[in-house]
Amino acid sequence: TTTPNVYNTSSTTTVLSHLVGDTKMESYARGKHTHKENERKKEKHKTKLVKKRHATRSIFSSSMGPISLFKVQFRSEISSYFCIPRRKTLTSITETPIMASTRRLLKSVSSSARLFSNHQNQTRGYKVAVLGAAGGIGQPCGLLMKMNPLVTELRLYDIAGTPGVAADVSHINTKAQVKGYSQADDGEDGLKNALKDCDLVIIPAGVPRKPGMTRDDLFKINAGIVKGLVEACAENCPKAMLNIISNPVNSTVPIAAETLKQKGVYDKKKLFGVTTLDVVRAKTFYAEKKGLETAKVDVPVIGGHAGVTILPLFSQATPKAALTDDEIDALTKRTQDGGTEVVAAKAGKGSATLSMAYAGALFGDACLRAKNGEAGVVECTYVESDVVPGVEFFATKVSLGREGVEKIHGTGALTAYEQAGLDGMMSELKDSIQKGLDFAKGA
Ligand code: NAD
Ligand code: LMR
Repeated sequence: TTTPNVYNTSSTTTVLSHLVGDTKMESYARGKHTHKENERKKEKHKTKLVKKRHATRSIFSSSMGPISLFKVQFRSEISSYFCIPRRKTLTSITETPIMASTRRLLKSVSSSARLFSNHQNQTRGYKVAVLGAAGGIGQPCGLLMKMNPLVTELRLYDIAGTPGVAADVSHINTKAQVKGYSQADDGEDGLKNALKDCDLVIIPAGVPRKPGMTRDDLFKINAGIVKGLVEACAENCPKAMLNIISNPVNSTVPIAAETLKQKGVYDKKKLFGVTTLDVVRAKTFYAEKKGLETAKVDVPVIGGHAGVTILPLFSQATPKAALTDDEIDALTKRTQDGGTEVVAAKAGKGSATLSMAYAGALFGDACLRAKNGEAGVVECTYVESDVVPGVEFFATKVSLGREGVEKIHGTGALTAYEQAGLDGMMSELKDSIQKGLDFAKGA
């Protein structure tokens, strides 16, 4: 795999570089580099590629969207993303590479199971809903779930805009049947029909951060959105596994738990706060720092999903690599601030969407594989837990089974640095949990 050159906006690399893959990302932005510089870099890169005889596989694209997700999935097929300045039209480029790469992508769809590793035990298919499906996370997450061989029905719900997204995704030649539902088109029935008898509901509905905001600043709007959607889940698919992505996760999961309790259908084994993006980031940053093969790296991340409540355990990272105290501190802080890094790079245009869609699809796939009877499915996730006294919800490694949580693992032995991190997060995590519970109780 070579280094892809991406010409678009300055935020492109930050977003994509958090995906766990072996492809390195570089970006060229009009604001950051002059046109000449970009051209020079492009030429240099081209020459290098030709020398290495890697130049045969290129994707020309003037806008980086969900296609970039193929970085991970199809990394063995795509050796470079090669992008052009926006002003150039596609007609100025020979058709051959575009046609070739399109053909390759289409061919790759049939081998899409690569992202969704092991489905040998497949016995049945599952109904999956994405709520917030027209949004920045919802759209690529819907795309990735459409490619999951365990999904037979994919329901895409949002306030508006979902018929278009659904029509688009439905043309992908994988077996999942896709339907779009929206409040605007279907009124109250939209949500009901989207959820009816679902096995898995992925919830990225809600507003994202802007620079200068904390995740808790989203509480005012997102708390009500999550409560409303979870009430509908309780009524229409009470046995479904719920994957909560909407922020602030430290509070929205307690809100969901309390809401389900009020509806008399709470099953703590089936409610999950999605913290997979923290794990994805920790793995990426650790592998980059130590020159390890990214796909083989594991780093548990415990706690919650906001600032200091995100605690990567580099002492338990595998494969083991020597890290100095300064390196551990830098890697820990970068993982904790990963979301803010993307928010700053997007400069007012939202937060992580593509890496989150990837992480959400990975976690959704883990739930489906476990439901399907696959043994040994273990993921870090924020669940009701008694692993750490004093907090009712906490993320550690969790073994998943057919009915959801099978076993919650402990934190493992912590170093003094990690113990200090755990102690330091407690008051914030406690407050966020209480805030969510109070909101749901109307206190
Ligand atoms: P976005 O604004 O692009 O999309 C959100 C979508 O939710 C919109 O399409 C909106 O119409 C929809 N929506 C709003 N209210 C709804 C409702 N009642 N029912 C159905 N849909 C509704 O935002 P985004 O970038 O996709 O982010 C969504 C959320 O995910 C944010 O809260 C963000 O902070 C969070 N997030 C969490 C993680 C994580 O690691 N858990 C990572 C990234 C983002
Ligand atoms: C993230 O970690 O990227 C998300 O929680 C979004 C955010 O606001 O940082």
